[in-house]
Amino acid sequence: MNDNAIQFIDVEKSFVRDDGSRQVILDKVNFSIPTGKTTVIAGGSGQGKSVTLKLVLGLMTSDGGQIFVAGDDTTNARGNKLKELRTRFGVLFQGSALFDSMTVFDNVALPLRERTKKSESEIKDQVLSNLEQLELLGHENKFPAQLSGGMKKRAGLARALQLKPEIMLFDEPTTGLDPVMTQEIYQLFARTQAQVGYTSVIVSHDIPKVFNLADQVIVLNNGDVDVFPSPEAIQWSQKPHIKEFVKTTMGEIYQSHLVE
Ligand SMILES: Nc1ncnc2c1ncn2[C@@H]1O[C@H](COP(=O)(O)OP(=O)(O)OP(=O)(O)O)[C@@H](O)[C@H]1O
Ligand SMILES: [Mg+2]
Repeated sequence: MNDNAIQFIDVEKSFVRDDGSRQVILDKVNFSIPTGKTTVIAGGSGQGKSVTLKLVLGLMTSDGGQIFVAGDDTTNARGNKLKELRTRFGVLFQGSALFDSMTVFDNVALPLRERTKKSESEIKDQVLSNLEQLELLGHENKFPAQLSGGMKKRAGLARALQLKPEIMLFDEPTTGLDPVMTQEIYQLFARTQAQVGYTSVIVSHDIPKVFNLADQVIVLNNGDVDVFPSPEAIQWSQKPHIKEFVKTTMGEIYQSHLVE
């Protein structure tokens, strides 16, 4: 098994603004996402977090540098290579993207019906066992409109897990949830990852809450990345923009160290 699930080497990405000027999103950035661990990607709005995930998935192409997934160079992958790349991933983005006209069971079963040759009884066994794992058993015949926000996220997670992804990408997965539900969803992510063993990449604004899960934190800012081996390590950075990040997002953790 490769030690790095994802690796960016000198990756560049920029967009041309309406006025013709260039907006640099990633300026030759380097980082590695360790296999089997949880990496949190943080940074202000518009700093390139979602763009980074899209580059990983091949939904966007980079302007330079190399991207590796599980040791394979997937930079600008196309055709079959791109299809193969996508099979490694499970994705849970903001809205849970459930189909409103389908029950929870049918939503979760969809990838198995479309992408595998499993029989209906095999599908039933797998889906019900996953729904049980995610505390959704008994709700399988409901439609998305009949679910709470947290249940929708859990159903979205159940569906993303069906093809047994090596890597799960989450882009602000707790949007629209109250603080208690947010906490519960993160606890569930931690349990599910421990059970399934995938590499987890979470883009989130729920700081410091999401740091409870993080093995590594990547902060995007003005085209650069700072990589921290633990959430605790962030608060010892001397860089002004990281100090500012700590002050605005981690204030309480920081202060609790100063007391005594
Ligand atoms: N397809 C595109 N064409 C042009 N500009 C884009 C495109 N996609 C993203 N951008 C720009 O790139 C920048 C980074 O976008 P991105 O969506 O990655 O931000 P983000 O860090 O995910 O922000 P947020 O926290 O608000 O979701 C933004 O300024 C955005 O306008
Ligand atoms: Mg985003």
